Amino acid sequence: MKLKKFIDELPIMQTIKKQGSYLEMRMEEFRQKLHRDLKPTRLWGYNNQFPGPTIEVNEGEELHIKWENHLPDNHLLPVDKSIHHIANHPEVRTVTHVHGSVTKPENDGYPEAWFSRNFKEVGPEFLHQVYSYPNKQRAATLWYHDHAMGITRLNVYAGLAGMYIIRGKQEKRLNIPKDEYEIPLILMDKTINNDGSLFYPVGPENPPANLPIPSILPAFTGDKILVNGKIWPYLNVEPRKYRFRILNASNTRTYTISLESGDPMYQIGSDGGLLSKTVVARSITMEPAERIDVIIDFRKYQGKSLILRNDLGSINTPEDETGDIMQFNVRLPLKGKDSTIIPKHLSSIPSLKDKPISAIRNLKLVGASDDFGRPLLLLDNKYWDDPISETPKLGSTEIWSIINVTGFTHPIHLHLVQFQVLDRTPFNLEKFNQDGSIVYTGSAVKPKPNERGWKDTIAAPSAQITRLIATFSPYAGKFVWHCHILEHEDYDMMRPFLIQKRD
Ligand code: C2O
Ligand code: CU
Repeated sequence: MKLKKFIDELPIMQTIKKQGSYLEMRMEEFRQKLHRDLKPTRLWGYNNQFPGPTIEVNEGEELHIKWENHLPDNHLLPVDKSIHHIANHPEVRTVTHVHGSVTKPENDGYPEAWFSRNFKEVGPEFLHQVYSYPNKQRAATLWYHDHAMGITRLNVYAGLAGMYIIRGKQEKRLNIPKDEYEIPLILMDKTINNDGSLFYPVGPENPPANLPIPSILPAFTGDKILVNGKIWPYLNVEPRKYRFRILNASNTRTYTISLESGDPMYQIGSDGGLLSKTVVARSITMEPAERIDVIIDFRKYQGKSLILRNDLGSINTPEDETGDIMQFNVRLPLKGKDSTIIPKHLSSIPSLKDKPISAIRNLKLVGASDDFGRPLLLLDNKYWDDPISETPKLGSTEIWSIINVTGFTHPIHLHLVQFQVLDRTPFNLEKFNQDGSIVYTGSAVKPKPNERGWKDTIAAPSAQITRLIATFSPYAGKFVWHCHILEHEDYDMMRPFLIQKRD
């Protein structure tokens, strides 16, 4: 269905600023209009909103959240029951993970700590109903989303995602745009049926006879781009500087964002908060789950419109207009003098490089196939159910070398920690496929300037070894790491890791 672009105004999510330290977040089903010309769409969200409300806290202020499941018993989207032995589990189950949060394992949203409506049934790792978040960490743009075993792709696509902002002193000291000039942007892609309902495939187009239906696919991209829950919205702005916190909350889609005019954006933050120096960039690539914090200066566009583009999408083809994201209309009168600045220096980021290294782990990203001949992606050739193999000691620093022997990029995410990227080294994938040997084809390349801050999700491109370094603290216990392409995470690119207490 063709939809007119830049017809709906960009919605801004309701912000829940911490009042007291206890919150209830209800997961519910409701209908909401995604575009002027669409009937309301049946969605899932938090507190009747899609995307969920933005939760905002200050560094060090603890918050307790009861995530409540009030969803119907049947899923909104086709559930493949052949994966992860989930046939006997309730069809609708949820568990919330605050992505980037430093919290104890029992509050992290372990995939098997799921619960059904009103906690009637719970998963094998379920421990308690109220999660606590110390927020004793660097100010940053985090987000929360569902993480239930085997159906994360469906729960998040149905709408279970929102932003979680930790504010800190350092950013307050910088004279950067704030309040109404600081705007969150959540990017998602969806395909919508003519009746307004969400489309998600039940399986491949021409399934072989033996295939379970519904059947999980190794990738899904929608043909409409949504920002904050509206399809191709517009935002009226003043001719001045704005700060945008941008999150890619799509299942599979990667974006390379740029301004139609070709002018630069000023990136001040990444997953783990402020960078050390502002990075001036004409385009910025965002894998699923990555966040960027950018300043855009609209001063010279007074009276004009400017499209935020996705260089990886196409434009002006009738079926696919994913090359456009949203439009800025610089038509509001300037309310007051813009005295904000684009600082050069932002924060200090101590390097982990000089710390003693306790282990170097070589971890391959591999493609395989399952009993039905479906593609199956694995971390180091292991399934979710295999015994835990990554067991860093509490407080130790390790290097993880992610060796991607598949044909495409995987965004790799570790829970609990913010890491640093050391480098990427290309190797000969053909040679590897012939005899399993790794032969470098070039020297190690330093991470891109905007990857030199703290990261929790990083692109591991095909035929490259991406090395990251992390200190595993401050909590011991079981966490997960995975590919953040949700179709991969569900099958089967997710593994537990165990941070061992020191004796
Ligand atoms: Cu954004 Cu394990 O998740
Ligand atoms: Cu992947």
